[in-house]
Parts: sequence; structure tokens; C-alpha cells
Amino acid sequence: MEKLIINGGTPLRGKVQISGMKNAALPIVVASLLTNDVCVIENLPSISDVTLTLTILEKMGCRIRMLTRDRVEIDSRPAVCGSSPVELVSKMRGSTYLLGAELGRWHRTKVGYPGGCDFGVRAIDQHIKAFEALGAEVSVDKGCVTAAAPRGLHGSSIYFDLVTVGGTVNAMLASVMAKGTTVIENAAHEPHIVDTANFLNTCGARITGAGTDTIKVRGVEKLHGCSYAIIPDMIEAGTYMCAAAATSGALVISNVIPKHLESISAKLEEMGVLIEEYDDSVYVTRSGPLNRVNVKTLPYPGFPTDMQPQMGALMCLAEGTSYLNETVIENRFKYTNELQKMGASVRVVGHTAIFDGGAPLSGAKVRAVDLRAGAAMVIAALAVRGITEISEIDHIDRGYEDLVGKLRAVGADIRLVVYNDTQMLDEA
Ligand code: EPZ
Repeated sequence: MEKLIINGGTPLRGKVQISGMKNAALPIVVASLLTNDVCVIENLPSISDVTLTLTILEKMGCRIRMLTRDRVEIDSRPAVCGSSPVELVSKMRGSTYLLGAELGRWHRTKVGYPGGCDFGVRAIDQHIKAFEALGAEVSVDKGCVTAAAPRGLHGSSIYFDLVTVGGTVNAMLASVMAKGTTVIENAAHEPHIVDTANFLNTCGARITGAGTDTIKVRGVEKLHGCSYAIIPDMIEAGTYMCAAAATSGALVISNVIPKHLESISAKLEEMGVLIEEYDDSVYVTRSGPLNRVNVKTLPYPGFPTDMQPQMGALMCLAEGTSYLNETVIENRFKYTNELQKMGASVRVVGHTAIFDGGAPLSGAKVRAVDLRAGAAMVIAALAVRGITEISEIDHIDRGYEDLVGKLRAVGADIRLVVYNDTQMLDEA
């Protein structure tokens, strides 16, 4: 088993380079199945969810070749429909995209029910609604989702009952080669939706309106391979912005799209953090006390739910009472129990966490209960003097490339250690 050992209290100073966006890489890698050709995808983050997705495609018959650390060539011509390994698919939510890609290419699909962070139900009823609107018959049975459209897929009008990132992506994947035009209403606006649409259009699709409420997909006969670079990860960038604020540091965070960070920057500036924006970087520093703040998570361009735990860690350090209202994911406050082990004064009332900040935190033994919760524990640990041990850090590896290396390079005292139940085996 592995854990992180952090000796906190040092202001982070220097430059952090942001990697490609996890939640754009997953749909785009899977969407390459639709091309039945060869695609080269660049700026891939070296994270376990991407490795897992590439492994799943390889098990399905695709030829995968890593050209460099962050460039991959995917030949999807040999791929076999319905052959994704259930035990791998069940490890992450991004597996849902296999449904849309298989349907779009083969007019049938069979995929194990997706897994991922434990936030509660994480239904896929809206995905199913989209597939049925396009002419597929869908069933969920014995842990598998199967669908088929024996007469092919036809354009349709899809109105999502709620804003869903995954549902919006899957509706695009399934409709790009349907006969006729599909209109997706109440679509998600996230930058990774736009990136996925841009990738598909580079492959010959005809998608307009991505990034707005209404996406129009004109079906085409076929797609072809392409070369495409993933956008930078706004959530990774926001996480390092919070780390700079938490440690009274000064970080240049490069390879970002500042516009994607607007809601995060706005809330950090409300807390007294200084942020300077440049073409593809932001400079983040904090010298005075952190002000209390109220945050409500919303679909993009609102404050992202994937930054909610990180903001919670920061609220522990702010003087006064802060309110953090989660409106997107059902149950995303488990990390507050871990912050309480460090001395945080926080309580959860319904979908709102209330932080009575300013009380001194101390190092402790804590768990990374999910991906972004793990990032929150790292931020809290970096901010407080003393040793914090974070276990179950495989969650963190799913979404953060070289977290230890990037933090060490800006002055963090952080170590990755391997241990069994009784002793430390190795230090990375
Ligand atoms: C994506 O999950 C991201 N994952 C999540 O990021 C992110 O938190 C989420 O979007 C919201 O931005 C990936 O992109 C791989 P949704 P997804 O469909 O697609 C409910 C991270 O940390 N819902 O927008 O599953 C659902 O239960 C991860 O990187 C339905 O009820 O999000 C959820 O509460 C965590 N029925 C809410 O909507 C449906 O058919 C948002 O889901 C679909 C969703």
C-alpha cells in the first residue's frame, strides 16, 4: 500500500506546469473508436484513469502505441464491439462513454455498469433517454448495460431533464453518424464538452453549439482519424491555486486557459488571494489573512463541483464562518470527516457544509476518500505545521499527474512511501 507523508507549513513558491484535462482525455480517447481509423492524441495526462482507458481499448483489440510520454497513437480498426473487460470498466465513471461510442459505430453495445468515485447513485437514466431517442432499445441487467438499434440510429430531439456532462457527451458520440440531425437541449457547457466536440469535428463530424444549452449534430456517413491535443486541466490548475493560497505561497501556474478558471479565480479573490492572469498562465499569491466566503457549486460556468473539496480545505483556514453548498453531486462531503481529524470545525447540514474557520489545524493520519477529497487533504496538510499521513492515495493517482514531483519542485516537504500493515517498505 502507498501513502503520502507531508510535513506542512512551507509556503509553495515557483512554477507548476498543468497537464492535459482528465475529463476531456477520457471521452476523446474513447471517441477514437468511432473513427475506425488511426488517431494521435496529444497532451494526455499521465494518470491512472487514462492508462486504464487505454488498457480497456487495447483489450477490445485496438492497437495502442505511446509515441511519447503524453502522445498516443490509437488504431481502432481491429476493435471488437462489446468486448470491454467488466472488471476494468467498473473502476471508473468514464467507462460510460463506451456505450455512446459502440452505439455510434456498431449500432449496438454491451458494457459493464460504470464505477468511479463513490458519490451515491450516479444514475445514467439521461444517457439511456438519449440512446432511446436515437432509436436504440436499452436494458440494464446483471451489472451490464446493453443497447441495440437494429434499424440503425436516426436524428432526434433530446431534452435532458438535468444538466449532465456524461449524458451530453454520450448523446454526441451516439448521434455523430446517425441518419439525420440531432438537437441536444439543456446540454452541459463544460470546456471538456467543447473539447470532445472539437475532436469529433476534426474527425469529420458536424457538431455546432457545443458550450451552449443547445448542441446540433448533423449525422455524417463516417469519421476519419486525426491528430488532436487535449485542453489543459482546469481542475488540476484550480487545485494548485488553492494550494498556493493555503500555504501563503506564490505560484506561477502555466499551461492554463484563464477563462476556464474564472469562477475559481473570482472566489479566491473574494478570500483575499491575489491572482494575475496572463495568456496561458496565472500567478497566484496570498500574503494577508484568508477571508470567509460562500460558495455554491453549479454546472459550468458556475463554480465546479470538482473543486468543492479543495475549497472546503481552504475554508478551514479562513477566519469566520464559510458556507459550501453542493448542488451537482448527491453526496460529496465525506472528506469533511477527515478534515475534522485535523481539528477542523465543520458540520454538514443537508447539501451545505458549514466551516467555522480559523481554528489551528494539526497534522493527523487521514484518508483520501475519493479523487478530489484526496486533493483537499493534500492542501490541508501542506498548510499546517507538522506531519500528516494520507492513505488510500490511489484515488489521487486517478486524476493528478506527478503530484509529488510537482509539489516538491515548489518547496513542499512531501514523500510517497510504500508500506505493508507493519512496516515501511520503500520511499519514492
Ligand atoms: C463528470 O461526471 C465528471 N467525470 C465528474 O468529475 C464531475 O464531477 C461531473 O461530470 C460533474 O461536472 C468525468 O468526466 C469522468 P454528470 P458525470 O452526468 O458525467 C446525475 C472528477 O472528480 N445524473 O454531470 O457522471 C448524477 O448522479 C469527477 O473528475 C443523473 O441523475 O456527471 C450526478 O449527481 C468526479 N442521471 C449529476 O447528475 C444521469 O443520467 C451530475 O452528473 C446522469 C447524471
